Amino acid sequence: MKEHIPVMVNEVLEALRPWEDVGTAVDATLGLGGHTGYILNNCPNAYIIGFDQDPYARKIAQENLSQYSERFEIEADNFRHIEKLKERPQWTGATAVLFDLGVSNMQITESERGFSFQGDGPLNMRMDAAGSSNSTFTAKDILDNSSIKELTEIFRNYGEERYSYEIARGIIRNREQGESLNTTGELVELIRKILPAPVQRKMGGHPARKIFQALRIAVNDEIRSLEEALDGSLKILKPDGKMLVISYHSLEDRMVKTRFRKWQEEGLGKAKPRKAITPTENEIENNYKSRSAKLRIFVSEINTSKKGDKADALHRIPT
Ligand SMILES: C[S@@+](CC[C@H](N)C(=O)[O-])C[C@H]1O[C@@H](n2cnc3c(N)ncnc32)[C@H](O)[C@@H]1O
Repeated sequence: MKEHIPVMVNEVLEALRPWEDVGTAVDATLGLGGHTGYILNNCPNAYIIGFDQDPYARKIAQENLSQYSERFEIEADNFRHIEKLKERPQWTGATAVLFDLGVSNMQITESERGFSFQGDGPLNMRMDAAGSSNSTFTAKDILDNSSIKELTEIFRNYGEERYSYEIARGIIRNREQGESLNTTGELVELIRKILPAPVQRKMGGHPARKIFQALRIAVNDEIRSLEEALDGSLKILKPDGKMLVISYHSLEDRMVKTRFRKWQEEGLGKAKPRKAITPTENEIENNYKSRSAKLRIFVSEINTSKKGDKADALHRIPT
């Protein structure tokens, strides 16, 4: 199923008003082109540069957006390199940058990509699929080679999993018994064996959900990519340009919130509104994936056209 229902489209479009003023904009997570399609349809002067590191997503986006072929282009790259747009000779800045983080429904439903704890596939989880320069190792490599301390840290830091240590210990024991984990199904089965049934019942969601999230974040270096991408985006926005970030878990949302607050304190712009926007009940009913979404918007007040501007002086902000 090559489908993905874009999340919080109305809220994104509302934030982009006045639509006539949307000129060159960046969709940092093009996916299947859902948000980009709506923006091109509603904003008559929009020209979108869409980043995606996944070759399958790019191919489908190209097809889905074929009617707008004059008004968009695809950058086959990790969004952490977004600042490279400044090197284009005609570059004058972006009126908006949109991030819709995480994986698309297509990536999840294709079990051979290894993202899903529901289907069975190889323990891959590389978003750039072929393993280009962006991610050189797979989830299997992590599970086969990490120490108990490293696994615990990955599960705790990237999955916020309460039973990180117990699961890490179970994986190491399994390895010591000469068993190797090759598929997502085997990992799910092992996690189910490690965690006592009452613990699994208490967990609410699927017992492997947070472990899969943690492994995906580690394989794709998602946290550092996002840090670099947010800083880079601020440097390519025009004054009054808007950065819109939709995140799906607290780790990402915290990073976005902290950065926006820090930038505001430094006089680089404003988080508008101050708090995150969440989907309507109606949207959650129609698209379950949207339930955890949070949209944050930052309006830049930096003049990026001048050399030595404040954004150029931006340093790494600890999250
Ligand atoms: C949630 S989907 C976006 C869906 C899109 N907004 C739509 O409506 O079709 C996220 C997309 O971002 C891509 N992605 C995630 N992290 C990325 C990164 N660091 N660089 C480039 N693309 C990334 C994924 O491959 C995926 O296709």
